[in-house]
Amino acid sequence: MKIKPSYIGELLSAGRVVVTTESTEETEEVGRLMGCAVTGALVLTLTGDLGSGKTCFARGLARGLDVDEAYPVTSPTYTIVNEYPGRLPLFHLDLYRLGGGDELEEIGYRDMLQQGGVIVVEWPERSDDEELGTDLVVSMVEEGPDERVITIRCLHENVDLTEQI
Ligand SMILES: Nc1ncnc2c1ncn2[C@@H]1O[C@H](COP(=O)(O)OP(=O)(O)O)[C@@H](O)[C@H]1O
Ligand SMILES: [Mg+2]
Repeated sequence: MKIKPSYIGELLSAGRVVVTTESTEETEEVGRLMGCAVTGALVLTLTGDLGSGKTCFARGLARGLDVDEAYPVTSPTYTIVNEYPGRLPLFHLDLYRLGGGDELEEIGYRDMLQQGGVIVVEWPERSDDEELGTDLVVSMVEEGPDERVITIRCLHENVDLTEQI
């Protein structure tokens, strides 16, 4: 992994960042650097198979947003959403168990969007980017026991994300 905070901003202005991590800690560090760089409302989705490191990335993101270490950031599989107080409010969602219909509305997604914080969504495939208002898609691929390829892509064209992050 060769990554530093300013690098994330620079590369996102080019629309895409690809980084390979070789440990759990490195993936957390990529998430943390993203979190450190965020200055305003942002919706990120995390795609990838079970065990690809989505929750690990979200944990790093929380640390980068100054969520206290006293909060263990774990998968919100059963609660669907966990909220953490940080520099900006952080909502960590796992939509794996989301049913159809208006369930996203029922869990208060619109209110979360209006709070102007950071929303990070595991299993976004249960909904869609339009409904979620996705800004960034983080896709995680397991390449070996400890190796993960992480691609961060911006869904907006001609937007310099460095203004937002
Ligand atoms: N480079 C890596 N990045 C992230 N997790 C890794 C890495 N190498 C091994 N792991 C392990 O893979 C698992 C990822 O789990 P988790 O973050 O809960 O995945 P997901 O939320 O995608 O199901 C953890 O047990 C973690 O320790
Ligand atoms: Mg998870």
